[in-house]
Amino acid sequence: MSMALHFLDVQGITVRFGGLTAVNNLSLKVKQGTVHALIGPNGAGKSTTFNCISRYYQPTEGRIVLDGQDITNWRPERMAGVGVARTFQNLELFGELSVYENVLLGCHAHSANTLVRLLSRPKAQTREWVDSLIERVGLIHERETRANELDFGHQKLLEIARALALKPKLLLLDEPAAGLRNRDIENLDRLLTELAQRDGITVLLVEHVMQLVMSISDQITVMSFGEKIAEGTPKEIRDNPQVIEAYLGKGAARD
Ligand SMILES: Nc1ncnc2c1ncn2[C@@H]1O[C@H](COP(=O)(O)OP(=O)(O)O)[C@@H](O)[C@H]1O
Ligand SMILES: [Mg+2]
Repeated sequence: MSMALHFLDVQGITVRFGGLTAVNNLSLKVKQGTVHALIGPNGAGKSTTFNCISRYYQPTEGRIVLDGQDITNWRPERMAGVGVARTFQNLELFGELSVYENVLLGCHAHSANTLVRLLSRPKAQTREWVDSLIERVGLIHERETRANELDFGHQKLLEIARALALKPKLLLLDEPAAGLRNRDIENLDRLLTELAQRDGITVLLVEHVMQLVMSISDQITVMSFGEKIAEGTPKEIRDNPQVIEAYLGKGAARD
């Protein structure tokens, strides 16, 4: 694959819910092995865009191309097979299961009938792989802790470990830093940068924690009321008057 090719190419998608246009003609290109952030005020259409890419929502217009393949009409279950993993704005973990078991289940997210067998006797190789992921997100000392006993920040890290179990090429993270303490945000910063730069994983995240967004992003796309209002490097976005206005209201950019 040539470096110039965009791993993800969202071409003019529109999503309507009844009379409401949640996403309006949005285009978004993400290069392989980069971190791309999608930001904007609440209700801007960020999660809806994510849900289209992961195929939970169907856009009424536009195309979604992944690694050169048109996936616009694919069913969501097919996405794991082409290396797309996601985490949710609201956690979706198995609360009664341990950290280890949650990540183990992530290895086989698309084959529910083997879950019981998998939990009872995974191969040594699988166990090592799962432990390496738990180590990587910094949860190895909580390997046996039940997911619902972890604090919120650690639950988010667990969700990322579970997503990594699928060996994703594209990682979609919806507000991974929400509710995290500073130290956990620093760990997340290091982890995501490394996943992109060392492992070549393409990371697309929705995030409100600007300290993280500005630090890790190669590119930032800003949405407001369903539309793209700005795009560029963190430096370009930081001082963009339209962006400041979208967040703080009209006139704010002049102050
Ligand atoms: N399933 C849905 N049904 C109806 N309206 C929805 C649905 N999902 C999102 N919306 C609406 O679409 C708009 C964009 O929502 P969303 O994508 O969640 O925004 P963001 O993630 O940027 O906060 C909002 O007005 C929201 O209320
Ligand atoms: Mg959202």
